[in-house]
Amino acid sequence: MNQVELPQESQATGLLALDSLGDWEKSHDCNTLGREQLSQTVILMGWVQRRRDHGGLIFIDLRDREGMTQVVFDPQHDAQAHERAHALRSEYVIAIRGNVRLRPEGMTNPKLKTGAIEVIVKQLKILNTSKTPPFHIEDDVEVNENTRLTYRYLDLRRPGNLRNMVLRHRAAQLTRNYFAGHGFLEVETPVLTKSTPEGARDYLVPSRVNPGKFYALPQSPQIFKQLLMMAGFERYFQIVKCFRDEDLRADRQPEFTQVDLEMSFVREETIYQLIEAWIAQLFQELLGIAPQLPFARMTYAEAVNRFGTDRPDLRFGLELSDITDLVGATEFRVFKQAVERGGLVKVIRLPGGSKLSRKDLDDLIEYVKVFGAQGMAWIKIQPDGWQSPIAKFLPDAVRAKLVERLHIETGDIIFFVADQSKIVHDALGNLRVRLAGQLQLIEPHTYKLVWITHFPLLEWDHEEKRYTSVHHPFTAPLEEDLELLDERPEKVRSRAYDLVLNGTEIGGGSIRIHRQDIQERVFAALGIDREEAQEKFGFLLDALQYGAPPHGGIAFGFDRLVMLLSGCSSIRDVIAFPKTQKATCLMSGAPTEAEIGQLLELCLKIEQRGRN
Ligand code: AMO
Ligand code: AMP
Repeated sequence: MNQVELPQESQATGLLALDSLGDWEKSHDCNTLGREQLSQTVILMGWVQRRRDHGGLIFIDLRDREGMTQVVFDPQHDAQAHERAHALRSEYVIAIRGNVRLRPEGMTNPKLKTGAIEVIVKQLKILNTSKTPPFHIEDDVEVNENTRLTYRYLDLRRPGNLRNMVLRHRAAQLTRNYFAGHGFLEVETPVLTKSTPEGARDYLVPSRVNPGKFYALPQSPQIFKQLLMMAGFERYFQIVKCFRDEDLRADRQPEFTQVDLEMSFVREETIYQLIEAWIAQLFQELLGIAPQLPFARMTYAEAVNRFGTDRPDLRFGLELSDITDLVGATEFRVFKQAVERGGLVKVIRLPGGSKLSRKDLDDLIEYVKVFGAQGMAWIKIQPDGWQSPIAKFLPDAVRAKLVERLHIETGDIIFFVADQSKIVHDALGNLRVRLAGQLQLIEPHTYKLVWITHFPLLEWDHEEKRYTSVHHPFTAPLEEDLELLDERPEKVRSRAYDLVLNGTEIGGGSIRIHRQDIQERVFAALGIDREEAQEKFGFLLDALQYGAPPHGGIAFGFDRLVMLLSGCSSIRDVIAFPKTQKATCLMSGAPTEAEIGQLLELCLKIEQRGRN
């Protein structure tokens, strides 16, 4: 575990006599007292935020979950309490009984809710001491994240973190009420189960009573919620933990929470409307913002074409333009070759971008290479002409067409990437987001929601040399594309949809296949034979034969949603006890080695990596 060296003082707290709570009860929280309670006797309890000694008086900022109150020890009032107050240090836990009084003229604190008053102490109970914490329990203190996660119980005492958890709690309550109010039944699905088809690696749990066999933790309740539709439940929801063993990023955790739902007898439109009203309520009640209804919609093809990605951030422009037809026939080798090989040439026009320095451009070129681009050409539109390593390859007629198509103006810069379509879109799609961040093109506190629809049903997996599902194998193909399933499977569009908020996919779902014949055809297109299908999902296939209703649903990444609502940049900030990028818990030390006895019981043996 990451031990942080503690300052000397913590060892010296000594043998302070502690008091018991006795029959004391909190009369108020630390954010409640004001002029209305003047002269009242109150009991407050909480943590010492700070002690200040002033001209014989001792001031304590007393903090609890709700806020802060100033309490004062005056030897004139109670000499014994005053004497003991000298021993108080940050994060000691105390209870005080005292009287509310106005702060003297000039000493009020308008920033604090209780800033008009203070409590003059008559009696002090020291309930517990504290080591000196490894960081100050305040919001604006820079602390390394590992230290914060090691002492997460202290980190969570900081008001900002507490606020995030309160927001999360309110979002969960509202969500429960909303779906229950719309006829959805909350049903718990198993955690010890069988592999689910979401495409990540499973977390496996060995079974002691069935040696050599393993449960998989659910990547989602997908199959069970479909079975609930076959059970006739019609509307199901759950706020549920899911587990995926995948590479972690700021918006991914190995265990995360979904708002998961499924409905029978529905088409896309019903689901869109239901979800839009829920999200609008979250925004309204948690942020006081009314998003525009209905949300924007865009097909997958349009999103990729215009923004290079299926999760476009619509808070800024910088759209991609296809200029393959204009430059494919120029003398520039890179463009010519890309087009000859069936690729594309696309550009982003950055208004005012000709100010970028050579170093800025070099950094951007390095950046797009991460996404597979071989390079990135650029043209600065200067008052005295076009400045560019490739300007000489562009004849006047081509330039004129570029100006017309891209609405080029003096001062702009144009970025070009030529390659296979996936690389062009990845490179420019990511460049677009990077430019917006770097040049601060995003208006703060804006929220742009968009449904992405008509995803492809399948994609070719070059490594496995077969088609895989873009969403999952139970997603229904678009009826009008069904005839393509056998001949040109990559052309088949699906009835899957994602909801994207500010460039983050917050939810995804689909209308499912409810007919066994179509499910079998999709399995065939995926190269899954009958035996494999039966072994993996036999129970679902069986259920399809007993009157499965048409159904569909969606699941939201609840952590992501709360992250965006709270303005945080990582889902770790809205999870009480998150894991690190390496899927470890710095506080508990998990994962840990198993005891040999446990392994024996499970019939497991650990082989070192690299040995046979
Ligand atoms: P999908 O795999 O798209 O769909 O997941 C739904 C949503 O869950 C969130 N999410 C995650 N959040 C945090 N950490 C992760 N590792 C993580 N992985 C996914 C995302 C995503 O949009 N069963 C289907 C849903 C359905 O078809 O109804 C499913 O799980 O926000
Ligand atoms: P080169 O001929 O490789 O020196 O490249 C000339 C210019 O084209 C440089 O500005 C490169 O960054 C750029 N370039 C190279 N490959 C690509 C590509 N695939 N797409 C767009 N521009 C490229």
